[in-house]
Amino acid sequence: MWSMVALCTIITAMVTTKLARVRRPITLNPKSKRPLPPVVNVIALLEHLPRLCTKGVIAVMHDLYTRFGSVFTVSLFGLKATFLVGPEVSAHFYQGMDSEISQGDLYEFTVPMFGKGVGFDIDNATRTEHLRFFIDAIKTSKLRNHVNSMVQEVEDYFAKWGENGIVDIKHEFEKLLMLISGHCLLGKEVRDNMFDEVFSLFHELDSGVGLGSVIFPYIPIPSHIRRDKAHTKLAKIFSKIVRSRRDSNRPAEQDVLQYLIDSKHRDGSSTTEQEVTGWIISMVFAGKHTSTNSTTWTGACLLTHDKFLTEALDEQKHMIQKHGDHIDYNVLLDMDILHCCIKEALRMHPVAPIIYRKAQKSFVVRTREGDAYDIPEGHNLLSPMIFNNRLPYIYKDPHMYDPDRFAPKREEDKVGGMFSYTSFGGGRHICIGEAYAYMQIKVIWSHLLRNFELKLESPFPKTNWSKILLEPWGKVMVSYKRRRLPTA
Ligand code: HEM
Repeated sequence: MWSMVALCTIITAMVTTKLARVRRPITLNPKSKRPLPPVVNVIALLEHLPRLCTKGVIAVMHDLYTRFGSVFTVSLFGLKATFLVGPEVSAHFYQGMDSEISQGDLYEFTVPMFGKGVGFDIDNATRTEHLRFFIDAIKTSKLRNHVNSMVQEVEDYFAKWGENGIVDIKHEFEKLLMLISGHCLLGKEVRDNMFDEVFSLFHELDSGVGLGSVIFPYIPIPSHIRRDKAHTKLAKIFSKIVRSRRDSNRPAEQDVLQYLIDSKHRDGSSTTEQEVTGWIISMVFAGKHTSTNSTTWTGACLLTHDKFLTEALDEQKHMIQKHGDHIDYNVLLDMDILHCCIKEALRMHPVAPIIYRKAQKSFVVRTREGDAYDIPEGHNLLSPMIFNNRLPYIYKDPHMYDPDRFAPKREEDKVGGMFSYTSFGGGRHICIGEAYAYMQIKVIWSHLLRNFELKLESPFPKTNWSKILLEPWGKVMVSYKRRRLPTA
């Protein structure tokens, strides 16, 4: 009986695989005679439109993946983009040299925000040299000093909350994280004397960026005009601070701005006011929405999963027994459960849904089924981490919030291999702010857990897909009541 069932299952699987393959017409690359990825044309996309409207992007990605496999090209009105789904086909995407696979022109929209002479206004080699300054500015030895400033900002901020109340945590976190950036990155001139002005200029700067700005970054629409004015004002403020710090005999500050001011180019020359201004704006921008959204998603997930909320709370009680009230870099490193809770929130809600690259040279990808495809030079490439992070052969019950999947013994992302978890990108352009981001989210959530009883009052937030960086839709209302966990 069981052998009959097994035989039927094998035959059905073989027929289904055969049919699936037959449905994918294969085109060969005329030069190499190797197959090109199957093409999803307008008609196939239209077939998925009703499902896109009712079930959303992830369901449609799942359908396309099931039908076309892990490498396919979407062709729409002459525009072609090839999706690479899963770690097996992503190594070159993430690790390839910039001369072979580049970040393309997509980030051109950041030039009016960060200014000339930095970021995507300059060639790859110079940009790589500049990235070194960023990496050094927030490396572990420096990060240790920033933890104190983060803790101080967080304590001061929540001290202003009442005994109980209800707040929009997304808004609260945006303001608090900017205060932390003010302290750790921008420095005391901004933090103490002009925080509100700089905060609203950053707001103008990034509210000028919509999906349309990615395609037409320079059209003179009102939001772009506001963005440009905000940049000019920020450039003036930071140039003045840089000049004044260089001219003064005061002891050097400990913030990232000071580090960038003191950095030297490879040829020994000093960094310019324009460069320092562009870099500091880009660092704040890189961490602002990403951190706000991640901190909010973490809260929304924790407050809707009692089991993990209790585990995270117990961990804080344990931390208090072990280290007292004191929080420093090592104490934060010790918070493994909170770490997994944040990591899992980011797996399910990566703030960058898709990463883009352009093939500067052709290359071959091999799928886990053993198919090989040519990716020709000039192809636009997309790594859909919103879907990659949910592959069922890597993540058990991928639609469930289950931080334990990252705990020792399971470690599903490590078992899945390199590029299984890409919420912070990977390889050559992996996020340089990952450790910094975890530190600030942990400082915030450990403080909240220790000092407040919290309840999510609004429904679990939907994703706002209209933003470049995915964020929780609308307000995320949480009620709070002060409490004090027993001290050691
Ligand atoms: C939870 C918070 C954060 C998330 C989810 C995040 C995510 C990412 C991702 C996915 C990338 C890769 C982009 C690509 O490959 O094209 C990236 C790159 C980058 N991130 Fe973050 N980021 C976060 C926080 C930060 C912070 C706080 C900073 C700085 C203070 C930062 C600085 C950067 C920079 C400079 C890059 C560019 C690296 C390169 O091009 O080589 N990020 N980030």
